[in-house]
Amino acid sequence: MSAVLEREQLRQRSDYTYKFNSKTGRHGWLRLTPAYSLKIVEELIVDHEQAKRIFDPFCGTGTTVLSAAYHGHEGVTTDINPFLVWLAQAKIAHYSPGQIAATREAHASALDLVKSQSVEPVPAPSIHNIERWWSPKSLDFLRLLRAAIPAVTKERSAERTLLLIAFCRSLIELSNAAFNHQSMSFKNDIQFEIGFDEDMACVFSEDVRFVLSGASENPVGEGHVILGDSRNPAEAVKGLFDLVITSPPYANRMSYIRELRPYMYWLGFLINGRDAGELDWTAIGGTWGIATSRLTDWKRPTNHFKSANLSMALDQIAHAENKNGVVLANYVAKYFDDMWSHFLRLIPVLDRGAELHYIVGNSTFYGTLISTELFYAEMLTALGFSGIECRAIRKRNSKKELVEFDVVAQWK
Ligand SMILES: C[S@@+](CC[C@H](N)C(=O)[O-])C[C@H]1O[C@@H](n2cnc3c(N)ncnc32)[C@H](O)[C@@H]1O
Repeated sequence: MSAVLEREQLRQRSDYTYKFNSKTGRHGWLRLTPAYSLKIVEELIVDHEQAKRIFDPFCGTGTTVLSAAYHGHEGVTTDINPFLVWLAQAKIAHYSPGQIAATREAHASALDLVKSQSVEPVPAPSIHNIERWWSPKSLDFLRLLRAAIPAVTKERSAERTLLLIAFCRSLIELSNAAFNHQSMSFKNDIQFEIGFDEDMACVFSEDVRFVLSGASENPVGEGHVILGDSRNPAEAVKGLFDLVITSPPYANRMSYIRELRPYMYWLGFLINGRDAGELDWTAIGGTWGIATSRLTDWKRPTNHFKSANLSMALDQIAHAENKNGVVLANYVAKYFDDMWSHFLRLIPVLDRGAELHYIVGNSTFYGTLISTELFYAEMLTALGFSGIECRAIRKRNSKKELVEFDVVAQWK
């Protein structure tokens, strides 16, 4: 059978066996990546049918591990954010028809408690300016519902996990916040009113229905999601990998903690703003709250990534006509030093001939173009990888110089 035909059959099989569409299935539960990224990852996995163990050192909402498991591979992934680890573990788990039926029943019991107000509402989470997020009515409903879910389910049960994911979807639907990929903004009609409590209950019921339809489609392969720092993967994962497919953080000051804070506060992964800044400081490319002020005094480690091209770019950013030039030069330097540690420490978990795919975009700082893909290529060359290519995938937005790449390499 020709390779093209085989691939086509695999694609058809995947459409049939699980809903790849990013708006349905488990991919759609909660995600950080835009739909085109899901498609790229999916295609790479289909094109590597022979891969035995697939690794994603930057899990996010679990795109790679989920696609790998649905195509019958063993997928392993790590992330430094405990909320994302919880979410991806829930996405990859197997759910029995009994658990799905029990979740449906628990959802009805939870709504009964909310309607009769016979549960003590949880305190409102300490999100800064919470009144910008939810109208008083929506907030009351969410506080009651958040208290009702543990009241009707056992700790660590599939029922509780699935209801909490549906809760996460509802809390955004009932909020004034509009999500887009780069950042979050608030709708102009701050007092977005959904109407009666009954309508809010319907929003939750619809989310439960959606989550359960994805949960009923179990992956055929295995997936493991582990809390770990990609600057030392061997500490978190065992064995060797023959394929790495990942979308690492970009050097673009996007904070995943900032984006995820409503979920993280409501689910108890964050208690206050200081914790949020601390967690962002541990993340590669994190730059929110305390993370930014720490960058001011940050000094490059002695084993930093040595590159004349990077030094030149850092110099330009530091001397740009802007008071934040120095701190942003530090931000870029730290990003690449962290990625250097990552690539260096990735080698011990790679099998001979392992193939790497890093989906990453470039960025600009005060007119200086940071060609992340070329810096990755420079690092991989210095570390002895071969077959290095930067394949342009797409333009990121109307700025013509902003492009996304698949940086490809092979371990010897
Ligand atoms: C671009 S996102 C990954 C998106 C992912 N492909 C998805 O499906 O959502 C980058 C991820 O890297 C994680 N991250 C940042 N620094 C990390 C580190 N040192 N170790 C592990 N994960 C890290 C962030 O928490 C974030 O989830």
